[in-house]
Amino acid sequence: MKQIIAPSILAADFSNLSAEMEMINRSRAEWVHIDVMDGAFVPNITFGAKVIKTIRGLTDKILDVHMMVEKPERYFDDFKNAGADIITVHLEASPNLHRSLQNIKDIGLKAGVAINPHSNVMLLEDVLNIADLILIMSVNPGFGGQSFIERTYEKLRILKKMLKEQDVDPYVEVDGGVGLENAAKLLEAGANVLVSGSAVFKAKSPIKYIDKMVNA
Ligand code: DX5
Ligand code: ZN
Repeated sequence: MKQIIAPSILAADFSNLSAEMEMINRSRAEWVHIDVMDGAFVPNITFGAKVIKTIRGLTDKILDVHMMVEKPERYFDDFKNAGADIITVHLEASPNLHRSLQNIKDIGLKAGVAINPHSNVMLLEDVLNIADLILIMSVNPGFGGQSFIERTYEKLRILKKMLKEQDVDPYVEVDGGVGLENAAKLLEAGANVLVSGSAVFKAKSPIKYIDKMVNA
């Protein structure tokens, strides 16, 4: 699988959202990563269904919604109606993770599970056969612009082995502190979707930056 680049809209200029989306539309990014934060699971608050719907109106790309939210199941229907394609919930916020993933699939969306830097990737063993996407957090969730945690490579390698053992092939996404300096190494360790916020939006030419990530 050729890698997918998912610019994180969290780092975009919201006073100029339609221009930022136009840039993404013209780029080789296939997904748009949307960070929903509730101020409880993580310290920060961002946006919800209304902004997802606005973004849906500005692009035909895949909307990859990362829910950093307690009791995320309260919002699955709203987010689907707003135009989400993928909904990812956190292992740490999901006491009934298997059911949550199944519920997302039942409404016709792709279901992802995210794990925090402190969580052992082995905890995912019993949902690998139902998850469409595994998101390995390479920073502690809550903010853009943090530094990449090196341990992520090892987690990706362990995950790759687990996927092989179960003969399943979900998307493997990495999120936090990702840019050209670590893209190739992440892909080699087993990632195939790279989320990138500040690196893309701070680049002199975000379109060229995305291009380089696609070729990493
Ligand atoms: C962090 C978010 C990330 C964030 C990444 O909690 O989940 O998606 O936007 O931003 P950068 O690429 O700046 O680390
Ligand atoms: Zn994210």
